[in-house]
Amino acid sequence: MSKEKLYEGKAKIIYATENPEELLVYYKDDATAGNGAKKGTIMGKGIFNNKISAFFFNMLAKNGIEHHYVNMPSDREMIVKKLDMIPLEVVLRNVAAGSLAKRLGVEEGTKLSSPVLEYYYKSDELGDPMINQFHIRAMKWATDEELMQIEKMGFKINSIMTEYLKTKNIDLIDFKLEFGRFKGNVLLGDEISPDNCRFWDSTTHEKLDKDRFRRDLGHVEDAYKEILHRLTGEQA
Ligand code: ADP
Ligand code: TMP
Repeated sequence: MSKEKLYEGKAKIIYATENPEELLVYYKDDATAGNGAKKGTIMGKGIFNNKISAFFFNMLAKNGIEHHYVNMPSDREMIVKKLDMIPLEVVLRNVAAGSLAKRLGVEEGTKLSSPVLEYYYKSDELGDPMINQFHIRAMKWATDEELMQIEKMGFKINSIMTEYLKTKNIDLIDFKLEFGRFKGNVLLGDEISPDNCRFWDSTTHEKLDKDRFRRDLGHVEDAYKEILHRLTGEQA
């Protein structure tokens, strides 16, 4: 039976399921950078990101974070709760890298003395502009109560993941989250993978994330494989 495709994004395809409260997410190998300016394929990425995301959602649930993940019917697919997505990219940072290092003129790798949370408006046409809570309130993208919930969850997810990854000799530099509404609650949605996190080896500071693709550093697939292996012990 062919599934009804609802949306195709840059990294994933969303299908309807028989359950109106759930969606099927198919993880592709397609990779983009610079808001689609650079395009490519990372062999096996869909499988790595699906498994890595499922691992993080399960780990976060054990620590009291509510999320959309339901189960994984295949290596590239996950069933999730259908959320009314809040059009924000919520970025948490522990170490200056990427756009923050550029914006503040600090060297990449400079530790931030406290975590930083940033909001970007999710819009491909506008290139995901950075915004603050006043823009969000004025545009009614989320209520103040929802934002409070997002900030509380964002910082909590950051500390849970940072502590956990330390045990795998990985530094969590920064990452991007998306949230959505479900039956009156705010839930964590989308994915948590090397596509939307910066992971550095704690000893060598080697980049184990999508920066290897963005910056043409080579060994891109190996980085995704290494993260899955360190998290789950799985040898892909
Ligand atoms: P993009 O839209 O940025 O190209 P993807 O290719 O990752 O990104 O597509 C996945 C889309 O699904 C995103 O737009 C994301 O906001 C949305 N999404 C993620 N989780 C859910 C969910 N549980 N319910 C509804 N939409 C979701
Ligand atoms: P940045 O330094 O480019 O702003 O990225 C910060 C973090 O957010 C990094 O881990 C990558 C992630 N990210 C996304 O997942 N999607 C995006 O569109 C952007 C700009 C960043």
